[in-house]
Amino acid sequence: AEDLWKKEYDFAVAVARKAGAVIREAGEKEIKVCTKSSTVDLVTKTDERVEKIIIGSLKEEFGEGTHCFIGEESVAKGEPCILTDKPTWIIDPVDGTTNFVHGFPFVAVSIAFAVNKELEFGVVYSCLEDKMYKARRGKGAFCDDDRITVSDVEEIKKSIIISEHGTDRSPEKVKKIFSTMQKILCIPVHGLRGSGTAATNMCLVACGAVEAFFEIGIHCWDIAAGAVIVKEAGGILLDVDGGPFDLMSRRMVSANNKKIADRIIKEIEIFPAERDDAP
Ligand code: IPD
Repeated sequence: AEDLWKKEYDFAVAVARKAGAVIREAGEKEIKVCTKSSTVDLVTKTDERVEKIIIGSLKEEFGEGTHCFIGEESVAKGEPCILTDKPTWIIDPVDGTTNFVHGFPFVAVSIAFAVNKELEFGVVYSCLEDKMYKARRGKGAFCDDDRITVSDVEEIKKSIIISEHGTDRSPEKVKKIFSTMQKILCIPVHGLRGSGTAATNMCLVACGAVEAFFEIGIHCWDIAAGAVIVKEAGGILLDVDGGPFDLMSRRMVSANNKKIADRIIKEIEIFPAERDDAP
């Protein structure tokens, strides 16, 4: 049988590597920062430039008519964020922009590809560590050339959990986030962590460094590639209420297994987040 989407996958890996090199170089020069939805929602010239490089290369290679593109900075500028059945690239040029601005050493390029609303592959290039995480549906997950799998820990008390604070500082939301973290910490778990990039967090679940990562308020471009990588590494994805994972819902639990996921879900205090594809 034809190796469907292999060409797109190989190209995505190459583009992610190229984009990562641009980010690394930019980090050594002056970083110009602007804000988006709030004073803590940062965007840099590099985010915009790298997204243009990625989408430009993809359009040149695969044609503008047949493929669709959802990119963080394009959506910020008013482009639609709707997943159709068409082959669609979902891109975060710089995941961990706050880290990038501060020189905190986790920054990732995230590129995913969906067809008929199903994710076919995901590539997360953690560009400061120079680690290429990647996975194709049904073909396993890899970090560089090594196969990766989730942790086999089943006891919540032997786990490390990642959660993030997001970019919304409204007191009610922050209160719920910290209340959830407090309850999970006091189960007790071995530790709570957060790398500052959702894409990298998911790769940490995929390679077994942590047992789970959850967040409300993330966007589809932060987690689309990571979702394929976690699944192919043997992990699971769920909604924060235990229902099925929905890429556009801005809510996600990723975990090594259902037992750990369910235990965390019991503690999550849910707050509203408008869907990515809200009209
Ligand atoms: C952010 C990071 C962060 C997560 C935020 C995201 P960005 O992405 O993934 O870990 O907590 O919700 O917005 O803005 O740096 O691409």
